[in-house]
Amino acid sequence: MKQDDQRGKKIVIALDGPAASGKGTLARRLASHFNLALLDTGILYRAVGWNVLQDGGDPENEVDALKAAEKISDTDFSNPELRTESIGVAASKVAQIAAVRSTLLNFQRHFANNPPPDKDGAILDGRDIATVICPEAPIKIFITADVETRAKRRFLEEYGENGTPEQLAEILKDLKDRDQRDINRSASPLKKAENAYLIDTTDSDIEAVFEAAREFVSSKM
Ligand code: DC
Repeated sequence: MKQDDQRGKKIVIALDGPAASGKGTLARRLASHFNLALLDTGILYRAVGWNVLQDGGDPENEVDALKAAEKISDTDFSNPELRTESIGVAASKVAQIAAVRSTLLNFQRHFANNPPPDKDGAILDGRDIATVICPEAPIKIFITADVETRAKRRFLEEYGENGTPEQLAEILKDLKDRDQRDINRSASPLKKAENAYLIDTTDSDIEAVFEAAREFVSSKM
């Protein structure tokens, strides 16, 4: 009976969590394993933040941020600079502005509900996927880790083995500030949806995290 009901049905996975929690890696692994289209929604906010800075604007200014959001389709999403922690900071500033979030909402919902025919569904990762973008998603995961662990991971990603203690301290401060903004903003703040499956990655490697998530997703299919 369950099989008949589920046949041909596309799945939607909502994956949320704070900066540098391992969301991106887990999303890629799940997308590949379950044949899902993947949307890293953070890159949309990063593109807006990047555009504001390129235009010499202020990411916390609504007029500057909205202007940048409206021309988001001109952005080169493969630019590696978009992935840096300094653009993450600008992204979390523009992400506080409700009007910026509204301009990005339909694109994200459309992506979730219209995966390409050769895919079995979609996975979106971000901060408000389970709570605002896809509250009806049948599979919700919230991934987190303590902030020191997340800072070390981001530090190694950005500087490899050549980073200095000052650079690590700066990343830690940026992540703490970013957490505060993402959690405390009034527009779609970061929070775990009540029915989301919680994974803490502080003491786990990616294989263990992937296995836990894979089992959870399989149990929901
Ligand atoms: O996931 P990330 O680090 O690439 O996200 C960058 C910033 O974008 C994050 O600090 C807050 C914002 N963001 C958001 O507000 N909502 C999302 N769904 C995704 C990202």
